[in-house]
Amino acid sequence: MTQSAQAAQVNAPAYVKNAKLIAWVAEMAALTQPKDIYWCDGTQDEYDRLCAQLVAAGSFKKLNPELRPNSFLAITDPSDVARVEDRTYICSERKEDAGPTNNWCEPADMRDKLQTADDALFKGCMKGRTLYVVPFSMGPLGSDIAHIGVELSDSAYVAVNMKLMTRMGKGVIDVLGADGEFVPCMHTVGAPLEAGQKDTIWPCNPAVKYIVHYPATREIWSYGSGYGGNALLGKKCFALRIASTMGREQGWLAEHMLLLGVTNPQGQKFHIAAAFPSACGKTNFSMLIPPEGYKGWTVTTIGDDIAWIKPAADGKLYAINPEAGYFGVAPGTNTLTNLNCMNSLNRDVIFTNVALTDNGDVWWESMTDTPPAHLIDWQGKDWTPQIAKETGAKAAHPNARFTVAATNNPALDPEWDNPAGVAIDAFMFGGRRSTTVPLVAEARDWTEGVYMAATMGSETTAAAFGAQGVVRRDPFAMLPFMGYNMSDYFQHWLNVGSKLSAEGATLPKIFCVNWFRKGADGKFVWPGYGENMRVLEWMLGRIGGTAKGVDNAFGLSPEYEDMNWTGLNFTKDQFQSVIGVDKAAWTQELKLHEELFQQLAYHLPAEMPATKAKIEARLAA
Ligand code: OXD
Ligand code: MN
Repeated sequence: MTQSAQAAQVNAPAYVKNAKLIAWVAEMAALTQPKDIYWCDGTQDEYDRLCAQLVAAGSFKKLNPELRPNSFLAITDPSDVARVEDRTYICSERKEDAGPTNNWCEPADMRDKLQTADDALFKGCMKGRTLYVVPFSMGPLGSDIAHIGVELSDSAYVAVNMKLMTRMGKGVIDVLGADGEFVPCMHTVGAPLEAGQKDTIWPCNPAVKYIVHYPATREIWSYGSGYGGNALLGKKCFALRIASTMGREQGWLAEHMLLLGVTNPQGQKFHIAAAFPSACGKTNFSMLIPPEGYKGWTVTTIGDDIAWIKPAADGKLYAINPEAGYFGVAPGTNTLTNLNCMNSLNRDVIFTNVALTDNGDVWWESMTDTPPAHLIDWQGKDWTPQIAKETGAKAAHPNARFTVAATNNPALDPEWDNPAGVAIDAFMFGGRRSTTVPLVAEARDWTEGVYMAATMGSETTAAAFGAQGVVRRDPFAMLPFMGYNMSDYFQHWLNVGSKLSAEGATLPKIFCVNWFRKGADGKFVWPGYGENMRVLEWMLGRIGGTAKGVDNAFGLSPEYEDMNWTGLNFTKDQFQSVIGVDKAAWTQELKLHEELFQQLAYHLPAEMPATKAKIEARLAA
């Protein structure tokens, strides 16, 4: 068939010139058998039309335009509320290359299950539905650091979310040109419709889910879920799992990191990349408002979840936010914890699994001190504070989300869309640990920093299915998002550092932080949120060579006098309880590091046990 005949067959607009793309869409349409094919152009008109269609289908509820203009609420199937890590696979040729932290399956077996067996899951999976072709760029269009993907999805919810979360539409097809490369991302909700069958408001497959990555061919295949990272394939699947493998091959880093700019009263600007596990406050930190007493300081957001970082000819590491929007956790967000975020959410938002107020607005736990007297909860049931007290029912699901374009953020950094990215001055790594890990510790060198990141632990949250509040090792906050063997990833970080050092570059400093230490009363000791500015200020002082610190068994930390306490009543004793490195707790902690190293023994860089031995020696001294 000629290219133009094939283009007509798949309904491609005349501006689509990429033969490989057209052929792939044709092949996938033959496999999945949608009722029609629609190419997204990314215009506002299209967004409005698709949202209206979702409203008509009952999948979206339009919120009260006087209270929340141009905003919608989606409620999911109760089985489809979070990422499904146990259904997520890295199908590398060799099991060792996926490593012990990933689910693995022989690529041929997985292809059989998804594509080729008689009862393969993708065969006919889009029957009765529209196939949306969603071209997107991760990163500013045409940036050297950016890459293009095309998602084929049978979910209009995915198409409109992708419009907010990425640079999506015709502009991407133009950059792709006739022979540009793209990452093919296949997505289906896994709920074909028979003729005459009525659709549900949240189509998905409650029983079968697969989130599959083939690193060798850079393909993503997602089946059965319509939710967040399972379905918006530019995010975790492409920008972290597939991009991490591309970064390893090409000498760059794809990280689960927020990116922020911080400018001091002298007008000097620094850029920080910070890794925290899911639902540990990355969005809040990236939108931090400095406390009173920090006159003249500003913090601006470049990204809240993912950073792509590439070394440049000047020896610096430059980072972009590959995304263009935020898919953030709503519960816990309020004007005290994150005013910039609340202001971002005044209009143009898609909410998922929050509660509906009687006047057509949204609410979630801790959004206001006093909850509304009556709500419809995320499961469609009546909710009152009394019902909550009696039954423990949550108005919003703990992993309820908002999707909003970055341009809604009043604290958006002017450089956020710069194709060249921003130069990184420091990396931060922080888990949620109620004990042991100090408020802040600076790595004495790159290797110690990699050790700190590699051994990071965190108490689990609602962002993924499974038990909550259990400490699990989450190296670099990448445990659910690594596209290859974790130990090879540690080695990659060490290699990036040694290559830059050998070229004479000054490497960014690396810090470990923990906002979450608890006192004997079980309450957080550190106030967090805007007060985290004090830790940032100390870090910047260390970068500038003005702030002091003392060597510890685990990095170098400030003493009470080394930090700025203006405007905060935080005693020396309280400080000691968040900064102290307790010998007994650390002896125990190092046993857990050892367990991790045993699990990751294959290809574990020798620098890891060597650094641990140094910590042990310092603890024993
Ligand atoms: C997210 C996550 O949605 O990390 O960003 O789960
Ligand atoms: Mn995340």
